[in-house]
Amino acid sequence: MTPDAARLRAAFGRFMTGVTVVTSRCADGTPIGFTANSFTSVSLDPPLLLVCPGQHLSSYGDFQKTSHFAVSILAEGQEAIANRFASSKSDRFGPKDWRDGAADMPLIDGRAAGFVCDVFTRVPAGDHTVLMGRVIAYDMCDAPGLGYGPDGYFELSRERRAEAPAPTHTRACVLLDDGARVYLTQANDLPMIPVGTDASPLRALEDYLAGQGIAAELGVVYAIYDGDRGGRRIVFRGHVNAAPEGLVAMPIDAAHAPDPALDALLKRFAQEHKTQAFALYVGSDQTGDVLRTKDRG
Ligand SMILES: Cc1cc2nc3c(=O)[nH]c(=O)nc-3n(C[C@H](O)[C@H](O)[C@H](O)COP(=O)(O)O)c2cc1C
Repeated sequence: MTPDAARLRAAFGRFMTGVTVVTSRCADGTPIGFTANSFTSVSLDPPLLLVCPGQHLSSYGDFQKTSHFAVSILAEGQEAIANRFASSKSDRFGPKDWRDGAADMPLIDGRAAGFVCDVFTRVPAGDHTVLMGRVIAYDMCDAPGLGYGPDGYFELSRERRAEAPAPTHTRACVLLDDGARVYLTQANDLPMIPVGTDASPLRALEDYLAGQGIAAELGVVYAIYDGDRGGRRIVFRGHVNAAPEGLVAMPIDAAHAPDPALDALLKRFAQEHKTQAFALYVGSDQTGDVLRTKDRG
C-alpha cells in the first residue's frame, strides 16, 4: 500500500462502525466468509443492505457469483470471531459456532442481528464491489453490538457501565484461592474493605490484606455488582500460596455461601476454574452480564 493509500485508509478508519461477518457458499457448497465493517443499511422498502467485498479477498470470485449471502452483526464478546474471519490463516468455519439460516446461508451463533439476502445488485467500485442484498430473512437479540474504531474493537455498553457513577458505599473484596481451595471469612463472606470515593479499590485491598498478614497476589477484577442498599462490591481475584490464617477454606468445586449473589459467584468460579477461562460479571446482586473476552484470564 502506498503512503497515500495508508493515510486515506486511516482517515476512513476514523469512522466508527460495528463489525459483521459476511458469509455465503461456493458453487460446491463450501462455506465462505470474511469480516466486514462496510455494512450499511440502505432501504426499508424494499429491504436492502450493502457490504463491500474487496478484490483482495480469496473468496472475492465466489461472492461475485453467489445468488445469496448472509450478514451476522457481531455482539460484544465476539472479537475472537471477528479476528478469525479476518485472518487468512484460520480455519474460519472449523469451530462450530455457526449454523445455517435461510437459503442454507451460514450465520454466526450469538450474533446481535443476522440477515439473509438474495443479491439485489452488484456495482463494481474500484478495488471493491458494492454488493447489495434484498433481505429475505432476519433476526436480532438484545445483545449489544461489537464496535470497531481507530483503536480496534470496543464494547460500548461495558465501557458505559464502567463509567456509571459509583454508589455511596463501595467495598473492595477479594476472591482468594490457592488453585484448589477458596477462602472465605468466618462470616461466610469474602474478605473486604470499604473504599472511599477517591481511593483506589486495589490499593485499599492491598493495604487491608497486608494489615491482616495475608500474602496474596491480586489479579483481575472478577465481578462488580451493586446490592439493593446502595452498596457496590468490586471483587478482585487473589492468589495465595499458603492458607491464610483466620479464613475458612473450601474446595473450589464445593464452595458455597448463604448469600445468593456470593453463592452464584462461587459456583461460576468453580465452573470457570475447570477451563481457566475467567469472565467478568457486571450488574447487581440480582441480575447482570457475564462478559467474556479472549484476553481475560
Ligand atoms: C474490522 C474489519 C473490517 C473489515 N472490513 C472489510 C470489508 O468491508 N471488506 C473487505 O473486503 N474486507 C474487509 N476486512 C478485511 C477482511 O476481513 C480480510 O481481508 C479477509 O478476511 C481476508 O480473507 P481471505 O483470507 O479469504 O482473503 C475487514 C477486516 C476487519 C478486521
